Amino acid sequence: MKKDEQTAYWLQSVAIPTYPTLTKNMETDVCVVGAGITGITTAYLLAKEGLSVVLVEANDVLHGTTGHTSAKVTAQHGLIYNKLLKSIGKNEARLYYEANKNAVKWMRKIVEEENINCEWRDETAYLYAMTEKGEKDIEDEYAAYEQLHIKGELTTDIPISLPIKNALKLSGQGQFHPVKYCLHLLKAFEKLGGKIFQQVTAVNITSGVRAVLQTKNEKEIGAKYIVCATHYPFYEGLGMYAMRMYAERSYVVAATLKEKYAGGMYINAEKPARSIRQTTIDGKQAILLIGDEHRTGEAEDTSAHYRHLHTFGMEHFHLEKEVAKWSAQDLTTLDEIPYVGSITPNEENILIATGFRKWGMTNGTAAAHLIKDIVLGKENRFRSLYQPSRFHATASVKNFLKQNVNVVGHLLKGKLEVLSSDIEHLELDQATVIREGMDRKGVYKDPSGKVHIVDTTCTHIGCEVAWNDAEKSWDCPCHGSRFTYTGEVLEGPAEKPLQTYDYKMIDNITSDDSGY
Ligand code: FES
Repeated sequence: MKKDEQTAYWLQSVAIPTYPTLTKNMETDVCVVGAGITGITTAYLLAKEGLSVVLVEANDVLHGTTGHTSAKVTAQHGLIYNKLLKSIGKNEARLYYEANKNAVKWMRKIVEEENINCEWRDETAYLYAMTEKGEKDIEDEYAAYEQLHIKGELTTDIPISLPIKNALKLSGQGQFHPVKYCLHLLKAFEKLGGKIFQQVTAVNITSGVRAVLQTKNEKEIGAKYIVCATHYPFYEGLGMYAMRMYAERSYVVAATLKEKYAGGMYINAEKPARSIRQTTIDGKQAILLIGDEHRTGEAEDTSAHYRHLHTFGMEHFHLEKEVAKWSAQDLTTLDEIPYVGSITPNEENILIATGFRKWGMTNGTAAAHLIKDIVLGKENRFRSLYQPSRFHATASVKNFLKQNVNVVGHLLKGKLEVLSSDIEHLELDQATVIREGMDRKGVYKDPSGKVHIVDTTCTHIGCEVAWNDAEKSWDCPCHGSRFTYTGEVLEGPAEKPLQTYDYKMIDNITSDDSGY
């Protein structure tokens, strides 16, 4: 996979070590695929138990969602507990809270014990409302907290000056620099004898008592357990994950402040999200404004999302200077609870951890602990909650139909669309989609005037990709695959690049400015 265009502050601010690629076949106890917080924590925990562990990453380590997160460490996951009470019942909803609360506790403990220099800061989380509808939703969420014995507090008093209706406060949470934290675990993993390889694209698994991971460069890693911590699973077995998750993109704007930030981490009850936290950038206090989410591949003007967040920041804070911006991709499951465990009931030693929504810091850490216990054959009370083969009728049926109607809609829409565009008059740094015969082609003219042409049919299962102006990528609305403007895979599930064409090979270009 290739790197994304915009680099998150977390990745800019630290020297990330590089690791070799895999050049020979290997044998190990556990092979973990994916070097984000979930894969790294899993590898570290298992190595600490004395197992031999190999960690492989398709890109450079930490360049996926972990490097682009807002890095809030909290069990307050937006408006979730009232929803879970209704969909999966009190016991399971409470378990979800406990798994994430334990993750916060474990992360704080390891930061203290190992003296990890990762800007950890204990923080209070607030869920706030600025509309009457949001106010009612927060009251309902608070009622759910009371039923689940979550020690939240309903308030109208928050430290920052937002014109809120009410807020739900949860103390004892945290925030940190996710890359510094993960790099510490990565080094600790290496010290324990763990092996790390990057630029290794996993393409398949042969299941069996000894499972075998196959890589794009035709190497194999044989293991008793293989853990897919790759965000979207590169191997699905018969798990139908493509039909049971959807991808969303959201945006982060970082700006220094003219005033002192009064503390707290915030997220609103309404949509689109307006999430807020602080950090320090080059020694200056800065604010992170996060949100404006949309389904991947479905935004008309992706750059507008950064502008919306900037405007929100200007309205409510004294922003000094915008210093960074980046975006992230998250996956949501049908019932909004991650899939963690055996990829299918018949492949018990192939494990998956995915679908953390926007709460990967705690959900990913909780997943790592669960996977460790599964590998060690230990009881874990969260196992059934996260079981990937579960199907909660109340929460899942409607979302299953919605997701798959959406996919079919995109499959048909892309094929039937009437398009004709003008490459000749395309401006620098602009893209369009043209129809050439039965084929649909995506055209991007880079700032130097060079034209890049790709086939817009996604190499996963054939939906049509759409242009993402903010990241200069082609994004698929069906399952969230993303490609560079030169067609290379940025994010799966697609494994193969988009087909590319030479400008001179394109005939019959008609003149019209009908956009994309
Ligand atoms: Fe599935 Fe594109 S990601 S069709």
